[in-house]
Amino acid sequence: MPLTHLRAAGTSLLLDLLEDRLPVVRHWGADLGDLSGEALTDVTTASRTALDGNAQWMANDLPILPLTSLGWSARPAVAVVREDGSGTSPHLSRVTHEVTAEEGPAGSVQVVRSSGTDEADAITLATEIRLEPGGLVRVRASVTDERPSSDAATPFGGHGNLLVTELTPYLPVPDAADELLDMAGHHVYERQLVRSAFTAGTHLRESWEGRPGHDAATWLAAGRTGFGFRTGTVHAVHPAWSGNTRYAALNPMQGRRLLGAGEALLPGEVVLGPGESYETPWIAFSWGEGLDAVSHRSHDYLRSLPAHPSTPRPVILNTWEAVYFNHDLDKLKALADAAARVGIERFVLDDGWFGSRRDDTSGLGDWQVSKEMWPDGLEPIASYVRGLGMEFGLWFEPEMLNLDSELARHHPEWVLSDGGTGTPEHRQQRVLDLNAPGALDYLLEEMSGLVERVGIDYIKWDHNSPAVGVSHMVEPDPRRRGRRGASAVHEQTLALYELMDALRERHPGLEIESCAGGGGRIDMGVLEHTQRVWTSDSIDAHDRQDIQRGTVLLIPPEVMGTHVGTARAHTTLRDLDVSFRAGTAIWGHMGVEWDLTSADDATLDLLASIIALHKEHRDLLHSGRTVHADTAVDDALRIEGVVAADGSEALYELAAIGQTVAWPAAPQPLPGLDPSRSYRIELATPAYPELNRPAGWMAGGVTLPGAYVSTVGIGLPGLHPDHLVLVRATAV
Ligand code: DGJ
Repeated sequence: MPLTHLRAAGTSLLLDLLEDRLPVVRHWGADLGDLSGEALTDVTTASRTALDGNAQWMANDLPILPLTSLGWSARPAVAVVREDGSGTSPHLSRVTHEVTAEEGPAGSVQVVRSSGTDEADAITLATEIRLEPGGLVRVRASVTDERPSSDAATPFGGHGNLLVTELTPYLPVPDAADELLDMAGHHVYERQLVRSAFTAGTHLRESWEGRPGHDAATWLAAGRTGFGFRTGTVHAVHPAWSGNTRYAALNPMQGRRLLGAGEALLPGEVVLGPGESYETPWIAFSWGEGLDAVSHRSHDYLRSLPAHPSTPRPVILNTWEAVYFNHDLDKLKALADAAARVGIERFVLDDGWFGSRRDDTSGLGDWQVSKEMWPDGLEPIASYVRGLGMEFGLWFEPEMLNLDSELARHHPEWVLSDGGTGTPEHRQQRVLDLNAPGALDYLLEEMSGLVERVGIDYIKWDHNSPAVGVSHMVEPDPRRRGRRGASAVHEQTLALYELMDALRERHPGLEIESCAGGGGRIDMGVLEHTQRVWTSDSIDAHDRQDIQRGTVLLIPPEVMGTHVGTARAHTTLRDLDVSFRAGTAIWGHMGVEWDLTSADDATLDLLASIIALHKEHRDLLHSGRTVHADTAVDDALRIEGVVAADGSEALYELAAIGQTVAWPAAPQPLPGLDPSRSYRIELATPAYPELNRPAGWMAGGVTLPGAYVSTVGIGLPGLHPDHLVLVRATAV
């Protein structure tokens, strides 16, 4: 059979579907044009380098799950073993492939399903490859124990259940890709871009916190040294999973360079009995000319999900940094008044409204409204907020509990533990076993009851503690895989998704934000169940410039929470102007997290004007293409924006987050405009106060060809560190 050529949105995926192996990816990347007839036959001949040769030459003919039985001798992509030690090298004698097209919300999806069985060891391996309409490739793999019963030996004579510790699909990247880029960071400084050489061996990034974590790699990308936002061919991988994850770039110095990802499993976490399967999460593979193009494919895909919000994103007021645990009805009403005055549309009451939770040492898990803080319940604040025309949101941390709580006293067996002294505590809290019989129902009923009674439009869903050393202390609900004593993260992640879905099913229209002490749980998996992520607990606009730049490479702006904080940032003690703080927050799902009752009228007016500007441009910001200029020569500059999908308009920020080396800085291109159109270029806000005599194009605007603006660029205002101006481009 000749190669199968899938094409979508400038992407070609060329698959060799052979009878003795899972799909071999001959090409993933730039569109190869129409390949049919003889051309395809010749391409097929040319690409099969050594199929009948010596195993050591077979490295270029390895399938998407490279197997040792085919000669793979680098990091295992499939690590399985029966309890008696057999079955570690599956050998698929006959593989079947099915090529179909399915209608998805954004158009036709091309699908290849393949499956093969190792008859001797009674193991089936399968893959599913989907080419989405926007050119994103999604892959998942599965393994099945084919024994008919638990006492049956395999034909080889093997015994026992099948332990799975790794199942990682890989796709090849161009051999010229000699540089890697991924992300790293920590709480209050997530998603910083890190480059390293794609040298011989394995580059491995893993998270073992029961969530992607604040240091999540987010994308593992490969390209030729120096690739940027706008230039260089880049290939990248991301696992759509909110539990433990693995990213790997392999350069085995034998055949092709590979990128792969999967779930990170602890031994014993997934054990298959007869007829049972383990399926990986979806692994997303994106490519493009520059990182912006990589992100556009993931944005397109995420925007097509049923869970993706379809209504204008309401500007939020979150109470956390305004009042912390000091819940006082009069104060919160005054805050709501100030919020309404500046144009806020959703008011979110954060931590501290329930049980004995007056600080972070107790009460977590007791999802009953505190009589001490809220003698008349939450209805008075919720109805006050609604009376001002705003929606009402509430904070929960469903998967956690303090040991000092009624919940932990009544159900000590619901606390995940290492079985000895218990898991290490983080913020005085432990992880609740969502799969312990009754636990998920408890959460569903308590949360659902509050949503109903109080009229909650939005849940901020937090997850502050890493889940490490977490095993079930009780036999899990029989509907679940897992055993007492075994590691719980895999099933915990599935139960999390189930709980989120159950709540949204009961309360259509309810929105959920994924928060994990800031940006510790941001991934494509959680976005199948939620409508927003909390990007970082740092709302220092200086650091936010880069935290948001990294985050938006994976997710579209409308689901990225971006707040305006106080003048002096609580996490860094940096002092910044409101114009820079708010100008940085307009680029996502905007919000405010600041005690507005202490702000003067002039400050509130300025804030209100920037919120109004955000609303004026909200449709563009939440549907367009995100673009970033490559300003690496002068790394203090940030020139980025959003361009309408049809090229009709754009909004940019010209920002400095430090001293530019050159003064004045050279003219800078505004990326992404349609080269064949002309644009009116003008300031979108009055220039910041220090720039009291705007000159040149800033004085009254100019009309320029798109090709000129995106290639030659425009002169910059004299940007001081931590200042920005907003620029509008409108096609004329
Ligand atoms: C961590 C979150 O990221 C904060 O925004 C806030 O909700 C606190 N938890 C509350 O405890």
